[in-house]
Amino acid sequence: MRKTLIVANWKMHKTLSEAEEFVKRLSGEIADINNIETVICPPFTSLASLAVLTEKTTILLGAQNMHWQKEGAFTGEISPLMLRDLGVKYVIIGHSERRLYFNENSRLLKRKMAAAFNYGLVPILCVGENWEQRSARETENVIKEQLLGALEGLDIGKDAMQKMVLAYEPVWAIGTGNPAQGSEVGVVAGFMRSLLQERWGDSCQGVRILYGGSVKPDNIVEFTGKAGMDGALVGGSSLDVKTFAALLKAVSGERSA
Ligand code: PGA
Repeated sequence: MRKTLIVANWKMHKTLSEAEEFVKRLSGEIADINNIETVICPPFTSLASLAVLTEKTTILLGAQNMHWQKEGAFTGEISPLMLRDLGVKYVIIGHSERRLYFNENSRLLKRKMAAAFNYGLVPILCVGENWEQRSARETENVIKEQLLGALEGLDIGKDAMQKMVLAYEPVWAIGTGNPAQGSEVGVVAGFMRSLLQERWGDSCQGVRILYGGSVKPDNIVEFTGKAGMDGALVGGSSLDVKTFAALLKAVSGERSA
């Protein structure tokens, strides 16, 4: 049974004191929730402090990005070793904003995926089509290209494969208030699962597939309730503690119903 996973992607939001305040309040709000996994991906500047603050809570930490090398002359970058050293468990790889604004392509993302596996971090690989591609009915081709582009040829152990997370994030739904429909997302998740099964067989049954794009407390269960969907990657609705707690409670309630 795959555990439902809700990941907060704070992007470039929150100072250290804001991040600390949020986590203190959230851990109280969700102390009783144990049927879902909650991950917060703050900016790098808050990771060390939140690692200490979340130690005795149910909240896990993720990074929003990383370099693929252990160390070296890469000004401005953060390595997988540095993240692991802090106790960070997850890392978002290939978010559409990184693909778009920082020119991250499959060749580079494959290196990051390999590094995540090597350092025992769980990658959350993001894939998704933009509006033009969707209008041209290219969604499945784009997903296939992005997924295989970041994974094919990697030597991934069975354990690491089982833990991997994929996030289907249609670019046109991110930050727009216009989410994809649950039924559509279910179809894409099914396509992703069959692609994995075809290439990697049963070793990918544990892979969790998330939906991301304008998820809110009042629409979350439309996605988490769909067969094949295992949770969500949440941007805007993860920034306000009351809103994010409401979203987590909605999922937890639906899971235990
Ligand atoms: P959103 O962002 O929830 O604000 O649409 C999701 C994401 O970019 O991961």
